[in-house]
Amino acid sequence: MNKVLVSLLLTLGLTGFAHAAGNAEAGQGKVVVCGACHGADGNSAAPNFPKLAGQGERYLLKQLKDIKSGARPIVEMTGLLDNLSDQDLQDISAYFASQQMSVGAADPKLVARGGELFRGGKLDEGMPACTGCHSPNGAGLDAAGFPQLGGQHATYIAKQLTDFREGNRTNDGDTMIMRSIAAKLSNKDIEAVSSFIQGLH
Ligand code: HEC
Ligand code: HEC
Repeated sequence: MNKVLVSLLLTLGLTGFAHAAGNAEAGQGKVVVCGACHGADGNSAAPNFPKLAGQGERYLLKQLKDIKSGARPIVEMTGLLDNLSDQDLQDISAYFASQQMSVGAADPKLVARGGELFRGGKLDEGMPACTGCHSPNGAGLDAAGFPQLGGQHATYIAKQLTDFREGNRTNDGDTMIMRSIAAKLSNKDIEAVSSFIQGLH
C-alpha cells in the first residue's frame, strides 16, 4: 500500500472523528442565505460554486468549521458563518448531505486520460489512484472524511487541485495528503481528471 495512504489511515485511526449529530430538517431553515450561490437544494448552477447536495456530512462539517475558523479562507463567504453555532453547522451539514448531487457530463476529448488518472494514478511517480479514497464511482467515504467528487463541477474541482498544488488550500491535515497528490499533477492532468469527475456517477 502507498506510504501516504498508510500514514493517513493511521492518523484517522488514532485521532478518530467526532460524531456528527445534525438534524436535516432544522438545517433546511438555516441555509436560505447559502442558496444564492450553492442552490436551494445544494446543486449550484455556477461552476465555481461547489455543489453541496449529497456531499458527506462529516466532510461538510469539517469544511464549515475550517471556513469559519479561517483555516480554509473563502472570501465569498466572509462573515457568513460567524453567528452560526456548532449545532447550526451540524444541522446544515445534515441537510445538504440528505440531498442528491446532480450529475454533469465529461468532455469526450478528455475522458480517457482523466479516467486513467482517476483509476490508475501515476504509479511511476508514487501518486496513488483517486479511487483508493474517493471510491471508483466517486462517492467518497464519509466515515473517513473522504469527500464525494462524482458529479461535482469541473471548474471547482480544477481550482481545488490547483489550490492544493500551489499551497493555497492547506486544510488537508498534517499528512498533507491532497497537497502531495496535487504536486504530481500538471495543468493538463488537472483539466482531464476534473472533466472526468464532473461526469462520474
Ligand atoms: C457569495 C457566494 C457564497 C455564499 C452565499 C455561500 N458560499 Fe459556500 N462557497 C462559496 C465558494 C466560492 C466556495 C468555494 C471556494 C473555493 O474555490 O475554494 C464555497 C465553498 C463552500 C463549502 C466547501 C465545499 C467543498 O466541497 O469543500 C461549503 C461546505 C460551503 N461553501 C457552505 C456554505 C454554506 C453552509 C453557506 C450558507 C451559510 C454558504 N456556503 C454560502 C460561495 C458562497
Ligand atoms: C489517501 C486518500 C486520498 C487519495 C488517494 C486522494 N484523495 Fe482527494 N481528498 C482526500 C481527503 C482526505 C480530502 C479532504 C481534505 C479536507 O478535509 O479538506 C480530499 C479532498 C479532495 C478534493 C476537494 C473536494 C472538495 O469538495 O473541495 C478534491 C478535488 C480531491 N480530493 C481530488 C482528488 C483526486 C483527483 C485524486 C487522485 C488524483 C485524489 N483526490 C486522491 C483523500 C484522498
